[in-house]
Amino acid sequence: MGYVGLCTAATFASCGIPTIGIDIDENRIQQIRKGQAPIHEPQLDLMLKKAVKRNLLDATTDVSRVTDTRSSFLTVGTPSQPDGSIDLTFVKKATEELGTALQNKEDYHLVVVKSTVIPGTTNNTVKPVLEQSTGKIVGPSLGLCANPEFLKEGTAISDALHPDKIVIGSNDKKSAAQLTRLYREFYRSRLPPVITTTPETAELVKYASNAFLATKVSFINTIANISQHIPGVDVNQVAEAIGRDPRIGPLFLKAGPGYGGSCFHKDLQALINHSQLQGYDPLLLKATEKTNEEQADRVVELAEKLAGPLDQKRIAILGLAFKKDTDDIREASSIRVIDRLSKKGARLVGYDPMAMPNFERIFGDMIELTKDPLGALRGADCAIVMTEWDELRKLKAKDYIAQMRQPILVDARRIYNAPEFKELKFAAIGLGSVA
Ligand code: UGA
Repeated sequence: MGYVGLCTAATFASCGIPTIGIDIDENRIQQIRKGQAPIHEPQLDLMLKKAVKRNLLDATTDVSRVTDTRSSFLTVGTPSQPDGSIDLTFVKKATEELGTALQNKEDYHLVVVKSTVIPGTTNNTVKPVLEQSTGKIVGPSLGLCANPEFLKEGTAISDALHPDKIVIGSNDKKSAAQLTRLYREFYRSRLPPVITTTPETAELVKYASNAFLATKVSFINTIANISQHIPGVDVNQVAEAIGRDPRIGPLFLKAGPGYGGSCFHKDLQALINHSQLQGYDPLLLKATEKTNEEQADRVVELAEKLAGPLDQKRIAILGLAFKKDTDDIREASSIRVIDRLSKKGARLVGYDPMAMPNFERIFGDMIELTKDPLGALRGADCAIVMTEWDELRKLKAKDYIAQMRQPILVDARRIYNAPEFKELKFAAIGLGSVA
């Protein structure tokens, strides 16, 4: 019942399909049973409440309840090992427990791998563990499919309700047919294209998707860094123009401080590591990651350009979450920027509408946190916008001028219209005329 599992369960249940959520975390299960979302995700709370009230969603720590169902989705996390490779501990453990529970089930049961796993995992890891723990052979009485998900944090529910495709990887027709039937019942006339393929292809589709999106972000950040050195150039206009070409497309062309979140970095590292083990060095993906890591240096350079040496300067960091409308700080670019600024001796003060409790828990000793954005700006020598929160967008030049010791602003998310900030020393990622 992590992010993917909970959103998937809630949307299935909301469409009238009886669903059981299973997790080892008793607190989480109790919360879900009360119809409360244990994570922050728009629409999820209401959806859970309704589903629990209509008895369409149940939650339990008792894995043997899978025998009450026809299909089980494995949605456990696949974190990174220190060398970047995928850690399959949770996948193996959940498969084993699921398999043990299915030992005595007589009817056909379908197991679906929804966790993000390196190509080959469904057939080479999940299948043998499942066969051993059930005492059955995958085939006529036990189905196995790979079925990746493409939800984004912050829009997970609407993404789950309106996907652009469903990818089903299977070794036999029976398992793919059962999963397709389930999705047909779920989406009815809105069923998106279903791409049926091998488990390995389905697994790679997920990595290719995240690798492409991350590369698109690093690409536009590269163009932004080039733009900054050319007076009169604005990367946003470049992005708008190239995005009109249907071969390029307008989305994921927003230049900024680099991508964050729990998936892009983890998945790129896992794919790079896997590929290298097979004897191919994926240079492009390595460059995507390096460009992203170094984008934090570009943000710090802008601050130095306007404010001079940063030693002992008070710097306000506005926004800590990896993107707006979430309290998630995993791999957030704010962490990389804060790390570099601290090494330069800057004194840091930060604000975020949602992510401060998470930030304080891990990085509390590196930064002072304030209750509101104006508090962070008070007496600061430089402010850096790191997350595109609507609350920050509302701030005007006069708010900065009134609070700061010297009004210097770096807009690393391009949330402001530069001409309105003429009275400040202002720089923005990918804006050549000012930087
Ligand atoms: C990403 C993918 O978009 C989902 O399709 C995928 O299912 C998910 O990972 C996953 O594998 O679970 P998510 O991590 O929620 O979703 O966040 P995104 O909205 O993709 O943003 C990732 C990062 O890229 C953020 O830091 C965001 O600010 C940054 N970004 C995004 C940009 O800097 N510029 C852009 O134009 C777009």
